[in-house]
Amino acid sequence: MALVGPPPLINSAPLSVMLEDLRAERAATVPYPPGETRVSMARTRRFANDPLPMLLGGYERFGPVFTLRIFHSNVVFMLGPAANHYVTVSHASNFTWRESHFRDLIGLMGDGLLTIDGDFHRRSRLIMLPAFHRERILASADAVIGEVTSALDELEPGTTIDLYAWTRHLAVRVAMRALFGVDPDGEQARSIDAAALFEEALAFYASEYIFRVLRGPYSPWARMQKAASKLDGLIYSEIARRRTTGERGPDILSLLLDGHDEDGNTLNDVQIRDEVMTLLFAGHDTTTSTVSFMFYELARHPRVVERLIAEQDAQLAGGAPTAAQLVSGELTELEMVLEETLRKYPPAWIGPRRAVDAFEFEGHTVPARAFVNYCSWASHHLADVFPQPEEFRPERFAPEAAAELPKGAYIPFGGGSRTCIGMRFGQLEVRAIASLILSRCTLSLPDDYTLRIRQMPTISPKSGLPMIVGPRIAASSPSSLQAV
Ligand code: HEM
Repeated sequence: MALVGPPPLINSAPLSVMLEDLRAERAATVPYPPGETRVSMARTRRFANDPLPMLLGGYERFGPVFTLRIFHSNVVFMLGPAANHYVTVSHASNFTWRESHFRDLIGLMGDGLLTIDGDFHRRSRLIMLPAFHRERILASADAVIGEVTSALDELEPGTTIDLYAWTRHLAVRVAMRALFGVDPDGEQARSIDAAALFEEALAFYASEYIFRVLRGPYSPWARMQKAASKLDGLIYSEIARRRTTGERGPDILSLLLDGHDEDGNTLNDVQIRDEVMTLLFAGHDTTTSTVSFMFYELARHPRVVERLIAEQDAQLAGGAPTAAQLVSGELTELEMVLEETLRKYPPAWIGPRRAVDAFEFEGHTVPARAFVNYCSWASHHLADVFPQPEEFRPERFAPEAAAELPKGAYIPFGGGSRTCIGMRFGQLEVRAIASLILSRCTLSLPDDYTLRIRQMPTISPKSGLPMIVGPRIAASSPSSLQAV
């Protein structure tokens, strides 16, 4: 028997959803936390374009829990270590994801792990967990290294590339091959440009709030659905091929096709499609942003690059990391750079939820059915937790310093029962891409480049990341750098 998924959202037409939100807000039996609750399109636009200063301002003025009216509804923000722990761990069962203000993602991902709750979430996660065990991740390392190595041939010294687009293309290929055992050079995969289709589909979430409620042939919603249906074609045909041929491998698709929960329930084709789409999305978008932000910061911190190269020269035979080194995170300089990148730029920057029952946190009440968000991006910029938060300082994550961080302070992968299931794979992939780039070349920024950040659905450099490819630098002594 197939696992029983959640019913469709009661009302998915955008205008009625908004009316329902307003009704729920009016039915509140306890007050919202303090904040800015008058309707304001200017605030909504500011939030859409540059949310971080607004959230940090809210924390300064109102404390760790406050309300901002964004577009039509009140949204409660909970920031800081205690708030993060409350939402993701100690009171996680009082929050749903599916009815959060990110519910539009269901339009692309359906009912995959990210957007489901409760028992269905627990059972689906149990089926998928074996694919993310350490030995499975270790086994996928060669496929990751292989993909990265061939992509690196495109990085010719003297050229300027868009590192964001290059990484996105690579990460989609890695996800196809390493996670799903699909050949990205196979006939069907070659007939579509999956990275471009994702770019097109995700553009919906970056469009203005007001355009997101539109439906109709040329709306952003219709464009997203069109891109999704092309990706569906690829996914469904691979499901059908595997079912017909019985072909299986050590990949997640095989696990989804044959997996079952403790009562023997299996996943049907639509549920498998939703999980594959979710993993393809979550598995490439976040790693792409992480690699981009990491090299943006490295280009501005030559001393850090020098330390990374010294570590490579000392520990990597022939310049390339082994699978075991990539899985273990034993290259400590690289690890600190990765952790500091994820502090300053956690790609999945917001944890969208909706409260089931009313609750009280730090002296303020939050009504039942309120939209509630935890936010790693803002929490990682609280100066009382991370001094001089705007500075990129990998040494914050030296083992003794990291051990001092309070519980819930550092949450780039979320927490509790919804902790990122792909964390180990994502870390391995970023380590592989970063190590192999560093072993081949140096990337620098054009003089006139200014980073602007797009925030939906994950944070990433707006309009890509131009980088100039140069020869690799050897750290022959701490103070002198030489081209090799
Ligand atoms: C640097 C890389 C990554 C980062 C920073 C990241 C971050 C996150 C965060 C913060 C969450 C929790 C969201 C919430 O609380 O609402 C999450 C969930 C999730 N991530 Fe990742 N992720 C990364 C890579 C990946 C990869 C590679 C995959 C798949 C192969 C993946 C699949 C998922 C899935 C399926 C969930 C939902 C888990 C659940 O609700 O049970 N992620 N991720």
